[in-house]
Amino acid sequence: MLLKATALLAAANAVLAQRPSNTSICDYYTEALLKENNATNQYTLLTLLVNTAVIGNYTQPNVGVSVPGILNPDGMYNDTKVNLVPYFNGGLASSNTGGMSGMAVNFLDGGGAAPLMKNMPAADNTSKQYKLLTHLYEFFGSLLGCSEVGMAGFAAYAGDGSMYEVHKFMVLDPFEVGYFITQVGLSAASFGVAQSDIDAVAMSLEKLFDNRCAPKTTAIEAQGPQYQSICTDEKCPLSPNSTCAAQPSMEQPLVANATLAMGEGRNASSSSSSSSMSMPSGTSIPSGSSMPSGTTTGTASPMPTSEGTQLVPGMAGLAVIVAAVLFAQ
Ligand code: HEM
Ligand SMILES: *[C@@H]1O[C@H](CO)[C@@H](O)[C@H](O)[C@H]1NC(C)=O
Ligand SMILES: *[C@@H]1O[C@H](CO)[C@@H](O)[C@H](O)[C@H]1NC(C)=O
Ligand SMILES: *[C@@H]1O[C@H](CO)[C@@H](O)[C@H](O)[C@H]1NC(C)=O
Ligand SMILES: *[C@@H]1O[C@H](CO)[C@@H](O)[C@H](O)[C@H]1NC(C)=O
Ligand SMILES: *[C@@H]1O[C@H](CO)[C@@H](O)[C@H](O)[C@H]1NC(C)=O
Ligand SMILES: *[C@@H]1O[C@H](CO)[C@@H](O)[C@H](O)[C@H]1NC(C)=O
Ligand SMILES: *[C@@H]1O[C@H](CO)[C@@H](O)[C@H](O)[C@H]1NC(C)=O
Ligand SMILES: *[C@@H]1O[C@H](CO)[C@@H](O)[C@H](O)[C@H]1NC(C)=O
Repeated sequence: MLLKATALLAAANAVLAQRPSNTSICDYYTEALLKENNATNQYTLLTLLVNTAVIGNYTQPNVGVSVPGILNPDGMYNDTKVNLVPYFNGGLASSNTGGMSGMAVNFLDGGGAAPLMKNMPAADNTSKQYKLLTHLYEFFGSLLGCSEVGMAGFAAYAGDGSMYEVHKFMVLDPFEVGYFITQVGLSAASFGVAQSDIDAVAMSLEKLFDNRCAPKTTAIEAQGPQYQSICTDEKCPLSPNSTCAAQPSMEQPLVANATLAMGEGRNASSSSSSSSMSMPSGTSIPSGSSMPSGTTTGTASPMPTSEGTQLVPGMAGLAVIVAAVLFAQ
């Protein structure tokens, strides 16, 4: 299969072969796009995937798939407006810093979008942005089955093991989580990942993170079973075998800076307003840290086996991406 894929790639026109059932999504696409399947290249693949999901497609041209990006203030999911920016820019008191309530934290403190467009996590290696982005590469690398995670060049994820604890003060709803997962899928599609692989990853992500009160589940093998519900708003579907008593529901996060919150969250005196309510658009991210769109995709546990022959965008598109990657390095 891989030989066939390589031959097709050389032919620069046809389609990629189907991913073999014994090869993970990460390993398969690392070889397809970057030729050698080693730790450095797997980390580069995850960097491209996550950065594109976060800021939107930035390799120009790409295979023709537009990615609006997680940091796009004008996101849309199922006809509902979604703006996740205030959770990242310090506009909302929504981060879990260990206390009983959420705190405002600016996670765009490492240069914002600019370094991401250069295939880097941040302009430095001490910022909150650096920590968040590298953790996302590592976390999704494990979910996508990268065989070199934990080797030199691709550190294993060592962040918080409970996605519920990380996200609980954000009180995210199904539209917000659905938008995030969609950006990861679109990012993968923009690099030529087969739709069957994208669908399988999206389904695993939804099952793991998109129900509220889910019982402890293992996402990262070394971290064992943990509460993983990222969707915690009352509009989220209740998990089978739900354990809500152990995962108390929170109020929508408080506005910490009204300018940066862009109408999301709630003011101290007002009653809680759902974050999924559509807010005035047109507000843009402060220019200094304006983020384009783009993201990454990950799947929990062993990646599902692909079935059926998959068409992948023509080789010309892949070649352009490879060129862009090499150029950026
Ligand atoms: C499939 C869905 C998602 C996955 C797999 C995911 C995964 C992660 C991971 C691995 C971290 C790093 C945690 C650490 O460093 O300990 C993180 C942090 C974060 N995520 Fe998510 N996330 C998802 C959805 C979302 C959504 C929808 C939002 C909406 C705003 C969001 C906002 C954040 C923020 C703001 C942080 C930084 C939190 C902190 O360090 O305190 N995530 N996420
Ligand atoms: C996958 O299976 C094929 C034959 O079915 C074999 O040639 C190849 O080495 C296997 N790859 C891995 C990574 O196990
Ligand atoms: C992986 O392969 C690339 C060439 O594609 C090379 O530059 C890099 O050093 C290799 N990394 C490791 C860890 O061997
Ligand atoms: C994103 O992808 C779309 C579709 O290929 C393209 O029209 C657009 O120019 C791309 N944006 C960037 C910034 O590369
Ligand atoms: C962080 O950056 C500094 C300065 O560029 C460098 O000396 C150091 O090795 C880097 N540390 C890590 C963990 O990459
Ligand atoms: C969004 O639409 C899809 C397809 O109709 C549906 O499966 C999904 O449940 C919807 N999500 C939300 C949050 O409405
Ligand atoms: C719910 O719990 C029962 C009993 O432990 C178990 O058999 C079942 O598989 C669980 N269902 C899900 C969807 O986890
Ligand atoms: C809110 O954020 C803006 C943009 O970063 C900043 O200029 C302003 O000083 C902040 N307002 C308060 C009250 O902190
Ligand atoms: C919170 O109050 C500020 C200023 O008083 C206002 O601009 C903003 O729209 C309010 N936000 C919400 C969600 O009510």
